[in-house]
Amino acid sequence: MKKLALLLAALVILSVAASVSVAAADQYPNGCADCHKGDKSLAATVKGLAKHPPVAATADVNTCLKCHKAGSKLALNKQMHDSHQKAKVACDACHVTKDGKVTSALKGVK
Ligand code: HEC
Ligand code: HEC
Ligand code: HEC
Repeated sequence: MKKLALLLAALVILSVAASVSVAAADQYPNGCADCHKGDKSLAATVKGLAKHPPVAATADVNTCLKCHKAGSKLALNKQMHDSHQKAKVACDACHVTKDGKVTSALKGVK
């Protein structure tokens, strides 16, 4: 019995520690901008794409969405999903989560 109680106590402590660390650690609170900075900035990244119109050095995701509107021919979702899935980037690096679930809202969108 004593062993079982100890085991249960250990499990409770472990699960509390796990939920605390999940809630505390959003590695990418700003989405795109947390990975695409310096010589990997969004502007530098699109400069490397064939035939891409120039964007300001300070371009952020809001700049992209001005031309890449949801539902349009240039919509960003498919391209971003394919390339970042290859790069093993998790959904919640770009998307806001609510109640532990990924929403379609993007971090950093004004
Ligand atoms: C967790 C880090 C991370 C986040 C967040 C992230 N990216 Fe990336 N992105 C990468 C990596 C890694 C690559 C592939 C290697 C490279 O080109 O640096 C990449 C590649 C790209 C490319 C070139 C490939 C392509 O699809 O043409 C673009 C453009 C891009 N990202 C835009 C974005 C945008 C816009 C966002 C936010 C909506 C974003 N990224 C969020 C890490 C990230
Ligand atoms: C001024 C309008 C404009 C802005 C701002 C813009 N784009 Fe684009 N983007 C385009 C157009 C037009 C194309 C199609 C170019 C072509 O292939 O002919 C394109 C194509 C792309 C492609 C596909 C390229 C390929 O090789 O298939 C990606 C990825 C992309 N843009 C990402 C971005 C990101 C990320 C941003 C924000 C930093 C951004 N764009 C900002 C107009 C824009
Ligand atoms: C690199 C950043 C990035 C990652 C990683 C990412 N998304 Fe997205 N997602 C986007 C962008 C950009 C859009 C287009 C938003 C817009 O046009 O307003 C989008 C749109 C969406 C949408 C709404 C449109 C659609 O395609 O249905 C859903 C739902 C979605 N993402 C779910 C996911 C899920 C689930 C994952 C993980 C498997 C994921 N996303 C990973 C950037 C990302």
